[in-house]
Amino acid sequence: MKALAHYGTHILSTGSSVPSICVTNHMLSDTIDTSDEWISSRTGITERRILPSNQSIIDIATEASVEALNKGFLKAYDLDLILFATSTPNDLFGSASQLQTSLGATQAASFDITAACSGFVIALTVGHQFIQTGMYRNILVVGADTLSQWVDWSDRTTCILFGDGAGAVILQRSSTNDILSFKLNTNGSESHQLRISCHTSVKNHATQEILYPQKLQHGYQYLTMNGKEVYKFAVSAVPASIVKCLNQINIDTDKITWLLLHQANQRILETVADKLKITDDKVISNIKFYGNTSAASIPIALNETFNSGHICNGDIIAISGFGAGLTWGTILMKWNIIQ
Ligand code: ACO
Repeated sequence: MKALAHYGTHILSTGSSVPSICVTNHMLSDTIDTSDEWISSRTGITERRILPSNQSIIDIATEASVEALNKGFLKAYDLDLILFATSTPNDLFGSASQLQTSLGATQAASFDITAACSGFVIALTVGHQFIQTGMYRNILVVGADTLSQWVDWSDRTTCILFGDGAGAVILQRSSTNDILSFKLNTNGSESHQLRISCHTSVKNHATQEILYPQKLQHGYQYLTMNGKEVYKFAVSAVPASIVKCLNQINIDTDKITWLLLHQANQRILETVADKLKITDDKVISNIKFYGNTSAASIPIALNETFNSGHICNGDIIAISGFGAGLTWGTILMKWNIIQ
């Protein structure tokens, strides 16, 4: 390992994938006491994608990764590391190794990063560190979640918000550095505001039944959320985090070309933009079509905006993730197309 070499991190390419099943607000209003009007006016969401039972998170994560590999003219074999940001893994020990196998990335180390809707931003900063030290050359960062499998579909206060999806970015060692600054934060004292709690039956505790066959009564509750508190947290923590990142490199908010926030709620996107005096035309939003896809929302939106030709060479993108933990983080990146 070449310690403290301080290489630059280049954003080489992006990819994304969402499941084909589309559930509209109107469809939800057939099964729970809600309406398209309530959901779209409070959240900006009109539909979301749901993973079918014959697909897994690895399928959509693989599709997103393959798009990024193809656009970056890389083979899976070229990857040195896979960082898989997900809070809905197939396996509690981690799903990154399944993604590695699915891609055939035999040379890559891989591990999961669990941080809900901040997961992608945190994974990107972790990848950036490995590039800067000179440890790795090509890193695949994937954000994917299938919260549809963890929400209570009879709870109208939560189920209307979430959808499934996957997004990917490839980071590559470079002489230039596209990550201008970043800031990560955690406030664990408020973790109860948004969680998928683990519950363990006393009967299954080792001290109770040490000599008896295990009764597996370990499981998870449905996602629970105090929506109002999460909302207040997001609209105060995120602007402050972005300002700190701007201050680190001595630039003002008017230098931001694109504001790309975790797609949790259209009202959160607009309030954060207002606080920063960033105009609507600079705010990236696809929440209408996908809802909140947790760790996937930022890379999906980044990929779609890039594919549509809107992101240009030299654009500065302020990216912020926020959510369960509570955790939040910002990355300021410069879009740099190396010819
Ligand atoms: N349809 C119809 N009515 C509803 C629904 C629904 N789907 N959900 C709640 N209501 C009702 C409530 O019961 C309440 O009725 P009441 O006044 O008779 O008690 C009324 O609507 C208002 O409910 P509120 O909870 O006050 O609605 P609010 O305006 O706060 O909006 C929302 C709720 C959309 C959840 C909002 O608080 C929010 O977006 N919060 C942020 C959530 C978020 O971003 N979470 C994800 C973070 S990312 C991660 O890490 C997973």
